[in-house]
Amino acid sequence: MTLVNRVLSPEPVGTLAEYRDAGGCAGLDAARASDPETIIGELEASGLRGRGGGGFPTGTKWRTVWENRASMEGATVVVNAAEGEPGTFKDRTILANNPFQVVEGALIAAHVVGADRVVFGMKASAGPALARLRAAVAEFERDDGAGPVAIEVLEGPEEYLYGEETALLEVISGRGPFPRLAPPFRRGVGDADEAEAVDNVDETGLAAEAEMAGPGGQSEAPPALVNNVETLANVPAIVARGAAWFRELGTDESPGTIVCTVSGATVRAGVGEVAMGTTLRAAIEAIGGGSALKRTTKAVVSGVANAFIPAAALDTPLTYEAMQAAGSGLGSAGFIVVADDQDLVAAAGGVSRFLAVESCGQCTPCKQDGLAIAALLGRLARSEAEERDVAEIRDRLATVTDGARCYLATQQQVVVASLLDRFGDEVAAHLAGEAAPQEPMVVAELLDIDDGTAVVDERHADKQPDWTYDEEYSGQAPADRLDENREAARADEAGGVAGA
Ligand SMILES: Cc1cc2nc3c(=O)[nH]c(=O)nc-3n(C[C@H](O)[C@H](O)[C@H](O)COP(=O)(O)O)c2cc1C
Ligand code: SF4
Repeated sequence: MTLVNRVLSPEPVGTLAEYRDAGGCAGLDAARASDPETIIGELEASGLRGRGGGGFPTGTKWRTVWENRASMEGATVVVNAAEGEPGTFKDRTILANNPFQVVEGALIAAHVVGADRVVFGMKASAGPALARLRAAVAEFERDDGAGPVAIEVLEGPEEYLYGEETALLEVISGRGPFPRLAPPFRRGVGDADEAEAVDNVDETGLAAEAEMAGPGGQSEAPPALVNNVETLANVPAIVARGAAWFRELGTDESPGTIVCTVSGATVRAGVGEVAMGTTLRAAIEAIGGGSALKRTTKAVVSGVANAFIPAAALDTPLTYEAMQAAGSGLGSAGFIVVADDQDLVAAAGGVSRFLAVESCGQCTPCKQDGLAIAALLGRLARSEAEERDVAEIRDRLATVTDGARCYLATQQQVVVASLLDRFGDEVAAHLAGEAAPQEPMVVAELLDIDDGTAVVDERHADKQPDWTYDEEYSGQAPADRLDENREAARADEAGGVAGA
């Protein structure tokens, strides 16, 4: 049996009482009876890695936040439930299925890193998952299960960058989803009132100054721990049952299970949990029913941060190390299957456009090279491009990451380069006019998986690179618009003072 049920229980868990009856909250009780060093040691021994896409060791992250705690104020635990990665629907499924284990995981984290606040970063579009989470939080509070920790559920903006951890902290601090330079363990959640303090900006003009936390618990400014929903859903059982139990599934470097989303050219779309080390082919079979009828798989798109995976690599085990060795990555295990009769240039054009539109423009090459690459791939997909356009794509790929403050620019580079390097025949067919002209695919967030059908946010096709849905593109990056708003606010303020 390929599918397993560690994080995704076979039936939704209805109430906190039901959860407790089935052994839930044993991890929280054990953590509260223990000390941070012991719990962090257990997490490190378990080898749990972050399921938000990067695969960073969770125990190491908790230790760093704990060591950087502030002397006076508590830290904040942020549950990253933004889930904007195209082709991914697992966090909302986990929350809709059993929100209690995620709240429990977050409360264990709060106990360990010394946090008095837990914030869930979600989107209004999360629908049933949002409602289930709110109900679960209310039950914990009624039951006094949250102890001294305040739990908030934030409905943030629709932008993809909302899920980038430092941008998420900006949103919690009352500003827009613009990534910062300082990592969360150096600088946590600021005061929302700072949003009003337009003079309180750093040298880039984009993020409010805040004192950084320092090592050794000496700082006045508290750090934040940001973890993905699935990462935290794994924590209660590790604390309750131990690292050795967790390692019974998976590999040495990638222990445990992974919750995958499968969509595209399969019999059905769906979400399912498999042991790490299961092959990509087996996961697609078990969750998606295999290739759609009378179609064979040409490639698999692994989110919008990893190289396209050719059909020849379908037997790659789903582990961080094997996916990397295969020249791609596991990401957040969202797999969009592309069939033989579909066009990979159109798929790459769609990914490139999505990333270029969602780029915030704080780093000029990310926005400008990204938009140019997307436009050139659009020409190529429509079979209107020439050799020199492909050469320009390569040139722009070499500079798109210059000065990038977050990973989005690298995503543009990695995905588009994988098209050129691995699927050169598809590119050549468009250049020679032998491939049918195509519009770039609409690549966007999944709004739902309804009865085996993935619902893509088609509205994204109308989203402008300035993050509006205006008829015309203003030519400005979102960061420019933000600067302009700040200037206007400063002018207003100066006018108000002068006129007082
Ligand atoms: C552009 C961008 C978007 C991201 N979106 C998400 C997201 O929607 N959800 C998420 O958990 N992580 C997302 N991440 C990764 C987070 O920045 C961060 O690594 C993660 O929340 C850490 O949690 P983990 O250690 O538990 O994986 C994104 C990263 C980037 C660069
Ligand atoms: S790399 Fe791109 S998305 Fe990230 S901060 Fe810079 S401009 Fe914004």
